[in-house]
Amino acid sequence: MQKYGIPCANSASFSEYGQAKEYLQQQKTPIVVKADGLAAGKGVIVADSISQASDALANIMEAKAFGAAGNKVIIEECLSGEEMSCFAFTDGKTVIPMVSACDYKPVFDNDQGPNTGGMGSYSPPHFLTPTLSQTVKETILQPAAKAMAEEGRPYKGVLYGGLMVTDKGVKALEFNARFGDPETQVTLPLLKTDLADIMLAVIDGNLDQMDIEWSDDACVGVVMASGGYPGSYQTGFPVTGLNAVDKDIVVFHAGTKVGSEGQVLTDGGRVLTVVATGSTIAEAREKVYNNINRIHFESCHYRKDIADLKARAK
Ligand code: GLY
Repeated sequence: MQKYGIPCANSASFSEYGQAKEYLQQQKTPIVVKADGLAAGKGVIVADSISQASDALANIMEAKAFGAAGNKVIIEECLSGEEMSCFAFTDGKTVIPMVSACDYKPVFDNDQGPNTGGMGSYSPPHFLTPTLSQTVKETILQPAAKAMAEEGRPYKGVLYGGLMVTDKGVKALEFNARFGDPETQVTLPLLKTDLADIMLAVIDGNLDQMDIEWSDDACVGVVMASGGYPGSYQTGFPVTGLNAVDKDIVVFHAGTKVGSEGQVLTDGGRVLTVVATGSTIAEAREKVYNNINRIHFESCHYRKDIADLKARAK
């Protein structure tokens, strides 16, 4: 991102523990320490003090808490603002943004507790203006696709930017080469064009000829998780009430399996996402929460404040 001028946090990378430690002493807090490898979503530590950041650094680089993922670290300025997930289809040349979404990562209401893969999501972000969408496209998504092509690795597929809208403009936190979970559950229901046609255009490199249409509706999804997630949890509990939801509610299965008698059983941390669309975020939210309590399994947990924009503003 630095090489191609894509707006992002100031940062430095280190493979030497001693150099990383020395650099850290000169930084302001809060500060972010990231293991530069896959760490099951746990490799990013936002530290409020230099001593907390130093402990995280030692844990990653010396104690190898995440194995080889900690051979290299990134020490990064902490960005604050509104976080959003922005997606685009790209065939390596043309970039067509999808609708964007906000994800809720902490397990409990009011963003309390440990981070998860995502406990709920809504689309579109209430703060996303047409001007901001255009800025995201022109300063982040298009330059990222162009950069990969220039590096000799043109990327075809879904480009997912995890972004922060700061008071100094929108900045990229990370990129993923995939859809988001649970963002996909609230973005694809708004897609009017056939996804298969888009995928074929991506493969064939003629995305520039596609006219992709989206609904103007809002969409809200709430994840039903196993009690204890993202820590340890039990599975194998029967899920009831799946047929009791209203016709226009979509229930996406993630951590479920079919038992020996054909019944649906829990089989993971994030079990289901219950999704509704509506003409406003408030309407979609009301529909989700009117339906989610018809579905039951033992020790079920879900957040009660997904897409509650008043709670978010606090
Ligand atoms: N919801 C975050 C992700 O898919 O990475």
